[in-house]
Amino acid sequence: MLKLDKVEAGYGQARVLFGMSLEARGGEIVSLIGRNGMGKSTTVKSIMGLLKPTGGTITFEEKVVNRLPPNAIARLGIGLVPEGRRLFASLNVEENLVATSRPGGWTVDRVMDLFPRLRERRGQMAGTLSGGEQQMLSIGRALLTNPKLLILDEATEGLAPIIRTEIWRCLHGLKELGQTILVIDKNLSEMATLVDRHNIVDKGCVVWTGTPRELAADAGLSSRYLGV
Ligand SMILES: Nc1ncnc2c1ncn2[C@@H]1O[C@H](COP(=O)(O)OP(=O)(O)O)[C@@H](O)[C@H]1O
Ligand SMILES: [Mg+2]
Repeated sequence: MLKLDKVEAGYGQARVLFGMSLEARGGEIVSLIGRNGMGKSTTVKSIMGLLKPTGGTITFEEKVVNRLPPNAIARLGIGLVPEGRRLFASLNVEENLVATSRPGGWTVDRVMDLFPRLRERRGQMAGTLSGGEQQMLSIGRALLTNPKLLILDEATEGLAPIIRTEIWRCLHGLKELGQTILVIDKNLSEMATLVDRHNIVDKGCVVWTGTPRELAADAGLSSRYLGV
């Protein structure tokens, strides 16, 4: 479904991605893991068209997308839960959900069944929600674009344990439904039962790919690239 082939990208003169290659097949859940500053979010920005790659190709469902603007890429069926959530602070919960929605299996009601707190907060301004509620709203908003590929960039970062648990539960539910997901997160133990394939990112490229079981079996990998 998604394939990055030797993608190069950066900010001005500063190159961040050096030959980033990555693949997610339909129905798969794949991760990007690695230390801070290694290029995970930059990879996401390149996929979404927020950053123009200076080399390599990004294909989504056999179509080269590197030169498309972000709205065109979103319309092809990629939904993003961005780092730092980026909600419309002065719109209420329901307005945030419908602002970018597209028709499909996910409806406002279904998202509110998934996260009942959003139903309770339906008319409340997004900027006044708790961090956890904002994260649920960000996930709900991405689902309402009815994406073929859902990308989550540090969706559980900085949240209370009870909220994290709710988000992992949600991701397991999406897996059951066959949703293709690219997940970036630091919680390896939660990802062990969710992810089909991990990709370790180091200095702007994928240096290792394998199953959670293979990762757990190799303590050297974790200490070298993940700092655990
Ligand atoms: N907007 C930006 N302008 C300049 N440099 C940036 C910007 N965003 C990120 N970087 C730099 O790019 C590198 C990779 O960052 P990032 O992709 O956010 O890493 P990760 O998500 O893996 O923590 C870092 O050195 C970071 O400082
Ligand atoms: Mg990041």
